[in-house]
Amino acid sequence: DQNCPVENTSKEDNDLPLCVGKIEDIKYSKRISATVYGREIVVFYHEENLHAMDLHCYHAGGPLHLGEIEDINGQACVICPWHKYKITLATGEGLYQAIDPKHPSVMPKWCSKGMKQRIHTVTVKNGDIYVTLSDTSLSFESDHYADKYKKPVHPSL
Ligand code: FES
Repeated sequence: DQNCPVENTSKEDNDLPLCVGKIEDIKYSKRISATVYGREIVVFYHEENLHAMDLHCYHAGGPLHLGEIEDINGQACVICPWHKYKITLATGEGLYQAIDPKHPSVMPKWCSKGMKQRIHTVTVKNGDIYVTLSDTSLSFESDHYADKYKKPVHPSL
């Protein structure tokens, strides 16, 4: 974002926060997509909270920045527009509905597949939104598509 103060521009500093936009803008747009050190991410503004995650869905790389936000079982989730996978904004967990075959008439229960989508840290300083990429020593399924769509990091960015 041209309006952000330029900070942490070295290629080696990819664990440092990078400015991706302004809080006053995301309050209207509800989401911002950005490239942070070559990695495509999306920041959602939902119920006055900011959540950043890998932009490409862990399932098959779908565009999560185009997904609707829904409350599922008390958790805010983005619904991937491609195959409707549900991903919690807070933790990146994939949710699914389980049916007990022994009791098929009972309402399906929402269950977690575990953390699938990589979540990044969002901070706000002087009205600017910063994203810090999460520690890549732990792997997440969304890493596959983050790597596949990785953009070259320009030495001057
Ligand atoms: Fe997201 Fe399939 S790519 S649900």
